[in-house]
Amino acid sequence: MSERQLVTLTVNGVEHELLVEPRRTLVDALRHDLRLTGTHVGCEHGVCGACTVLVDGLPARACLMFAVQAEGREISTVESLSPDGRLNDLQQSFVDHHGLQCGFCTPGMLMLAEGLLAERPAAGREEIREVVAANLCRCTGYQSIVDAVEACARARCPQEERS
Ligand code: FES
Ligand code: FES
Repeated sequence: MSERQLVTLTVNGVEHELLVEPRRTLVDALRHDLRLTGTHVGCEHGVCGACTVLVDGLPARACLMFAVQAEGREISTVESLSPDGRLNDLQQSFVDHHGLQCGFCTPGMLMLAEGLLAERPAAGREEIREVVAANLCRCTGYQSIVDAVEACARARCPQEERS
């Protein structure tokens, strides 16, 4: 077993000091060390996107990052969307537009979409389709996920504010 390293992770605005093996992935540190189990693990090799979190505001596969690489970065997980237990507007839009069935892909889809809307608040349907295609969903057929993200984008950035 390799020697453990002390790492400070800033997750959802809170700093945590952890002793981790250098090979420990970020997603395992989040789920097993910090008990933030909202982030899911599917393929563990960067294909499915179930593990998507935001790293410095940009979507990233947490199974492809080591925890030690996250030192000094701002990590946001799906738990950050509802700190008081109430769904945020994007989560509510997924409910309203049937953007989930089994829910396994949902945390990753939400963080992927949050990353898109933070960078491109006026994202249109085609752009949303392209971005959402990065993550795998076995249930919904994607239309309802795109509907949910598009409705949230339109509510956050009304037509008159779109260029
Ligand atoms: S678990 Fe990370 S991409 Fe599938
Ligand atoms: S809702 Fe089941 S995998 Fe997406």
